[in-house]
Amino acid sequence: MYSEKLMDHFTNPRNVGEIPNADGIGEEGNPTCGDVMKISIKVEDGRITDAKFRTFGCGAAIAVSSMVTEMVKGKTLDEALAITKEAVAAELGGLPPQKMHCSNLGADALRRAIEDYKGRKGAGPA
Ligand code: FES
Repeated sequence: MYSEKLMDHFTNPRNVGEIPNADGIGEEGNPTCGDVMKISIKVEDGRITDAKFRTFGCGAAIAVSSMVTEMVKGKTLDEALAITKEAVAAELGGLPPQKMHCSNLGADALRRAIEDYKGRKGAGPA
């Protein structure tokens, strides 16, 4: 039911934690299940140089968090904003249909973290 890649990111999640003095923080809850994900990012010269997460959620949500924080590193803010939940799920080798809602958290928490960064910089909402 789950790909090997997804199981790897679930059992050995990358980028767990919180960045001290983060440039942007985004938190998103999933109304379907009540799970919550928080992503913090570091931004230098318009690029995301680091990203970490804390997720209170299911295995798929943890794998999504791990993958999305890997995917954004080195990306410009616009490139990061273009990451969709479908892209994250595809990178994980797909999610079962009943778990697709879990990938919402990753893309949405990331978007909020970028909006938070832009707000702090006075650049307006994303
Ligand atoms: Fe809540 Fe997966 S069941 S995010």
